[in-house]
Amino acid sequence: MKADVLLGLQWGDEGKGKIVDVLTPKYDVITRFQGGPNAGHSLEFNQIKHVLHTIPSGVFHDGQVNIIGNGVVIDPVIFKKETESIAKLGVNLIPKLFISRKAHLILPSHRILDAASEAAKGITKIGSTLKGIGPTYMDKTGRNGLRVGDILSADFLDKYNHLKKKHIDLLRLYDFVYNIEEQEAQWFAGIEELRRYTIVDSEFEINHFLSAGKKVLAEGAQGTMLDIDFGSYPFVTSSNTISAGACTGLGIAPTRIGEVFGVFKAYCTRVGSGPFPTELLDETGERLRQKGHEFGATTGRPRRCGWLDLVALKYSIMINGVTQLFMTKADVLSEFEYIKVCTGYNVNGHITERLPYDLNEVDSAEYFEFKGWDKDLTQVDNKEDIPDNLNKYIQFIEKETGLPITIVSLGPDRKQILYR
Ligand code: GDP
Ligand code: IMO
Ligand code: MG
Repeated sequence: MKADVLLGLQWGDEGKGKIVDVLTPKYDVITRFQGGPNAGHSLEFNQIKHVLHTIPSGVFHDGQVNIIGNGVVIDPVIFKKETESIAKLGVNLIPKLFISRKAHLILPSHRILDAASEAAKGITKIGSTLKGIGPTYMDKTGRNGLRVGDILSADFLDKYNHLKKKHIDLLRLYDFVYNIEEQEAQWFAGIEELRRYTIVDSEFEINHFLSAGKKVLAEGAQGTMLDIDFGSYPFVTSSNTISAGACTGLGIAPTRIGEVFGVFKAYCTRVGSGPFPTELLDETGERLRQKGHEFGATTGRPRRCGWLDLVALKYSIMINGVTQLFMTKADVLSEFEYIKVCTGYNVNGHITERLPYDLNEVDSAEYFEFKGWDKDLTQVDNKEDIPDNLNKYIQFIEKETGLPITIVSLGPDRKQILYR
């Protein structure tokens, strides 16, 4: 078998968690391959609303194994809170959650470094979620990191103190007040929680599952425009959010990747700083934010809203090798008199469909305008009931991208889904 990858094509929050939850019954293994608690993946079912940060979005079904892969960074404090809130819903995670020995740990001092670095940047700050993501991946590539496997070694405390001291030395560079000790008791309690789970060499596990004919779904976090190499650098996260990240974040070869499912919102959002060519700073943007409840699942920050950007979408499709598109939140666009789609960028007086080196070079966006539809879509469960104008919108995107939109999501609940 090959592993299918599901990932975001925009700036995150495309609705990945919801779709993974919907697709889980078709799979045997659900696995996260990068990012950490900067992610907030919302699931809704049976009147329950739940946000996952580190744990794969397959845990609310029975019969699947969920794996936190080597490419993920784990904050034990947040992990413990997550497991406790899942336990309250009556789910026993112990038999269904495995954690890679090679996943890196976010220390309290990583979080402090993230905050100190952002504070020092002032108005040029990235708008990080302040979860310590950047500093943890820096220690990983700098070969200083602490990994899940280390918690089983006799000298774990020495390793922890060694890295903490390095961070204290670094923090001298900043004019920043902090207190590491007040966060440490919770952190070590989180380490104890981690020890309760099955810690695995996940690359062996996943390859073995594939060889045994099991179906594996790799769940991405963030989105392609936040990728460390191909996103709107430097306003990005610190991992490879793209399909290639599933190979390095799980230890599977490119030849073992099957479908690449690209999830995109019917419009665009971004949270945090950085260029956003189709951003709407007017009432229409505010209307999208209110109708779409566009407030961050991790930080609660209002998300910036704008029209769908086909230039960026096509770029993401190219980088990921997307084979099928899934569109979410089309229901939010109901009742808009018109809907726009960006088909080109104006850069230095020329219209281009090529993403520039620096997205700040985009002076304005070129749009194609569609007539809206009045119908409430949240109860639609048959493709014959899709309004004509929405069909035109869908078909336009399919023609432009050359890919089929095989799933349309029409509400936050597990049941609000349409297969085409
Ligand atoms: P993720 O990070 O990609 O998993 O997405 P988030 O959970 O951060 O943000 C998506 C938000 O939209 C959540 O509040 C979801 O409950 C909600 N959502 C997902 N799909 C749909 C949809 O089709 N329609 C509507 N109205 N909301 C949706
Ligand atoms: P999910 O998986 C949306 C954004 C932050 C910031 C930038 C860097 O829920 O789609 P970081 O904390 O990673 O150093 O922040 O990336 N960001 C996200 N935006 N959804 C996410 O995850 C995000 N994870 C990080 O807002 O702009
Ligand atoms: Mg999210």
